[in-house]
Amino acid sequence: MDPKNVKAVVTGGASGLGRATVTRIVSAGGRAAILDLASSAGADVAKTLGPRVVFTPADVTNGPAVESALEAARGAMDGVNVLVNCAGIGTPMKTFGKQGPARLEDYTRVITVNLIGTFNCIRLTAAVMAKNAPNAEGERGVVVNTASVAAFDGQIGQAAYSASKGGIVGMTLPVARDLAELGIRVVTIAPGIFDTPLLATLPEPVRISLGKQVPFPPRLGRSDEYAALALHIVENVMLNGETIRLDGAIRMQPR
Ligand SMILES: NC(=O)c1ccc[n+]([C@@H]2O[C@H](COP(=O)([O-])OP(=O)(O)OC[C@H]3O[C@@H](n4cnc5c(N)ncnc54)[C@H](O)[C@@H]3O)[C@@H](O)[C@H]2O)c1
Repeated sequence: MDPKNVKAVVTGGASGLGRATVTRIVSAGGRAAILDLASSAGADVAKTLGPRVVFTPADVTNGPAVESALEAARGAMDGVNVLVNCAGIGTPMKTFGKQGPARLEDYTRVITVNLIGTFNCIRLTAAVMAKNAPNAEGERGVVVNTASVAAFDGQIGQAAYSASKGGIVGMTLPVARDLAELGIRVVTIAPGIFDTPLLATLPEPVRISLGKQVPFPPRLGRSDEYAALALHIVENVMLNGETIRLDGAIRMQPR
C-alpha cells in the first residue's frame, strides 16, 4: 500500500510506539486516528501533529466503544485501510510468591487488554475494511499487531504479559488466513526493549544497563525504529501471517 493512501487507526497512539507510528504515517503523507483511552494524551497529541490526525477515544476492550471510534475515524479520514494495535499494559505479577497466589483479576486484566483488546479491534476494523474497494493488488487493508519478545522468552513475573503476547503471536496466522479472502494482511511485530514513556520512569543507570544487554546495537530501541517497520509492513504486500522480532538479537534472561 502506498504510504500516501494510508488511513490508519492506531490503538495506544497517544504514547510510545503508537505515537511514533502516528507521527511517521503523517510524515509519509498519510492520515491517522488515535484510538486510546479518554484519559490519555490523545487529544493533545492529535493537536500537536496537525489536521491529518484525529483523536477517537475508546477502551480497546469495549466492543460498542471501539465500533463508535472506528465510525468516527472512518468519517474523519474518509475510510480506514490500516490498523496498528499498540494499546497494551504490563502489570507484573508472580504466579506464587510471598503474597500468596497471584490475583486472578490481575492476570485476567492483562489478557483482556492485550490479547482480547487486540482481537476486538481486528474483528471490528475488518468489518470496516471489507467495504473498501480493493487496490490494484487486490488489497483492502493491513493489520499490524504488537506482541513482545516476552512471547518467547518471558521473565519472572511476566506470566500474564507473556501469555497475552504469546496469544497475539498464535493468532497472527489464523487471523491472516481468515482475512486473506478479503485482501487484508495481518503481521505482528515482537519488540525487544524500547525507550518509551514506560521505560523513561526508570533511572538512567538502569536504562543504560538494560540497553547493554542488547547484543547489537547495545542500546534501547527507538520508537521510530518500530514505526519504520510498521510502515514497511504496510508497504510490502508480500509480508503476511508472520511475527517479526525487532530486538537487536536480545534473548531475555529469567530476571
Ligand atoms: N516499550 C517496550 O519496550 C515494549 C516492548 C515490547 C512490547 N511493547 C508493547 O508495545 C505496545 C506499546 O507500548 P509502549 O511502550 O508504547 O507503551 P505506552 O504505555 O507508552 O503506550 C501504551 C498506550 O496504550 C494505551 N492503552 C492502555 N490500555 C488501553 C486500553 N484498554 N484501551 C485503549 N488504549 C489503551 C495507553 O493509554 C497508552 O497511550 C504495548 O502493547 C507493549 O506491550 C513495548
